[in-house]
Amino acid sequence: MDYSLEWLMKLRTDYINNINIVPFSPSDWNNNDNTIKFPINIIEKAMENNKNHHKYTFMYDLINLKTNYCKFIKNYLHYDINTNNMAISQNSTSSIYLSMQALFENKIKRFLVITPTYFSILDTIKSNKTTNIYYYHLNDSNNFKINIDKLKKIIGEQYIECLIITDPIFCTSQEVNSEILEQIIKICNDKDIWIVYDYTLGNIYFNSDSDLFNINKLKIVQKAKKYIFIESISKRIFMNGIKNSIIFASTQIIPEIESISNYINGGFSSSQLSFFSEIYSDDNIKYLNNIFIQNKKIIENNYNIIKTLLLDTNYDIYSLESGYYTTIYHKDYKLENLDIESTTKKILYDANTFIIPNCRFSFYKTNHFGFRVNLSKNKEYLINSILNAIKVNI
Ligand SMILES: Cc1ncc(COP(=O)(O)O)c(C=O)c1O
Repeated sequence: MDYSLEWLMKLRTDYINNINIVPFSPSDWNNNDNTIKFPINIIEKAMENNKNHHKYTFMYDLINLKTNYCKFIKNYLHYDINTNNMAISQNSTSSIYLSMQALFENKIKRFLVITPTYFSILDTIKSNKTTNIYYYHLNDSNNFKINIDKLKKIIGEQYIECLIITDPIFCTSQEVNSEILEQIIKICNDKDIWIVYDYTLGNIYFNSDSDLFNINKLKIVQKAKKYIFIESISKRIFMNGIKNSIIFASTQIIPEIESISNYINGGFSSSQLSFFSEIYSDDNIKYLNNIFIQNKKIIENNYNIIKTLLLDTNYDIYSLESGYYTTIYHKDYKLENLDIESTTKKILYDANTFIIPNCRFSFYKTNHFGFRVNLSKNKEYLINSILNAIKVNI
């Protein structure tokens, strides 16, 4: 089964053109109301302080921003990060692209991707025709847990040079357990291979009072000799309009990432940089953490409502551990039992509801069919669109 869904966006566009209605969608990424709280005070302050409109700023010009970030983490979390181990980028799509290109330039060709995964990772690897991708497909029947022996075996048998993991396991809301991650890092070090850890949607944990600035997973991944760790605090505070992302990586690869960024991305928007400075400021820790806690409650509340809503239906939802995307899955139908394209079309036309089917990221055919849910959306909107979708006789 393939993850590429060229037909999906066409399906939506054709529907809008034919029916002249924008369908409901529990799956998409936009927050179009005031359900989620945004850090208005610091957005306004960042815009006021945003004076460098006239100036080009490239990735390698960001040493002051990096130094301030490292000081902030040292003061607040008592952890030393070296500025040589980090690059600041415009967004995580760009972080993924730059990291992969830097690996290609280092002649890395054999990639093992743990699925469910983020499709940009695969698209970027596939754009280089000299690479080989191998998959370790996680199984929904054991909550997408990674089996260390199996992982070690694939890495050895396929002469893997780089392992790629998305945490939370993409759109499942399952986190990679820290003890397992420690073991994975040990394997990478024993085999002397790279690990790329996409933590863009990480650090929104529901079983703990985790802090917005928590760096526990970074600390573990930094034990690897060859690592790239991608994170994005702007994602955690839903700021899709003024994004940023940080690439933490082994010293040897940072200059390459910065140099590629120069000709791929050009300069930064000054509002992005101003916003970055405001986020990592001692003055704003409490304010941002309060908003973070409120938003986690909204997400958890939406999850609990949906879980109840699905009782006595043919569908269920994965348990909520981390992140705000998860999947509602059909209890009986596996991906291999359905024609996903016609099922998605039926749900769209019969229920005016556009779903992103899980084969986009979880393309292991014996996993159950399902669709992505963005738990940060408005409660009534989510309930209506999900009830519509699951009523359709597929
Ligand atoms: C796991 C993961 N990685 C990367 C990205 C891309 O992030 P950005 O929107 O900052 O480009 C996303 C976006 O949702 C994501 O979920």
